[in-house]
Amino acid sequence: MQKTALITGASKRIGKVIAQHLASRGWNIAIHYNSSSAEAEQLQNELKQRFPQNQFAIFQANLMNEAEVQQLIPAVLKRFKSVDLLVNNASVFEPSSLKETSLELLQQQMTVNFQSPFLLCRDLANVCDKSLIINFVDTRITNNRSNYAAYSISKKALWELTKMAALEFAPNIRVNAIAPGVSLPPEDKDETYLWNLAKDIPMQKPGGLEPILRSLDFILVNDHLTGQLLFADGGENLGKKS
Ligand SMILES: NC(=O)c1ccc[n+]([C@@H]2O[C@H](COP(=O)([O-])OP(=O)(O)OC[C@H]3O[C@@H](n4cnc5c(N)ncnc54)[C@H](OP(=O)(O)O)[C@@H]3O)[C@@H](O)[C@H]2O)c1
Repeated sequence: MQKTALITGASKRIGKVIAQHLASRGWNIAIHYNSSSAEAEQLQNELKQRFPQNQFAIFQANLMNEAEVQQLIPAVLKRFKSVDLLVNNASVFEPSSLKETSLELLQQQMTVNFQSPFLLCRDLANVCDKSLIINFVDTRITNNRSNYAAYSISKKALWELTKMAALEFAPNIRVNAIAPGVSLPPEDKDETYLWNLAKDIPMQKPGGLEPILRSLDFILVNDHLTGQLLFADGGENLGKKS
């Protein structure tokens, strides 16, 4: 039977590549987006053409809005029989030191990056007997640099949630996390920015998307794995070379 993956923030970048990867392995995809409706429709059309035997549907929800978050799993279940995989990928990423962080920025980072995955994990566990959750965190959770203070705290919280949910939801739902490092430049920056960031990490080059997809595949096939964090960061969690 075909399985369905709900991927948040799937219209672009890492979420889109995950959608394409899972579709190529026979998954139906529930493509969640917020503002990128044209990109979401484009991805849905592309996937329908490439994989006509699978089902693809798009779902809009602003993860800043609790009501919209809480409607997401029910909406996907109306369209598909089950949610066999939830990928909490959507995220906001804003620089700000602790001293400079406004309440508004803190609330935005915590709501999109932590509160909405929390609610989606909860809602999934309340309706699905068997499933799998993958939360996207960040290699930054291993250090205390505060140049993205609210973002880092939100991802640290998401990792704690991953372990707590893994314990409560076992054995029916496995919950794991992937921590990318230098993978894709922000939309307003180019590859040079990425290479500059990566020159001091142990592997001394950006990882791109392949390590993320390999981590995803590992979680999918290893059905005894839960509460674990896979770094896709070229060793950055160990520290910088210089
Ligand atoms: N890129 C990297 O190198 C890197 C490094 C470390 C960790 N990560 C993690 O990997 C994941 C994917 O990274 P990425 O760079 O591909 O992410 P991204 O481009 O920054 O964001 C992905 C999507 O999140 C959605 N989003 C943002 N605010 C939202 C809201 N209020 N409601 C609903 N959706 C919202 C956006 O959807 P719309 O466009 O539809 O609005 C956006 O396309 C993230 O969790 C990130 O923290 C990435």
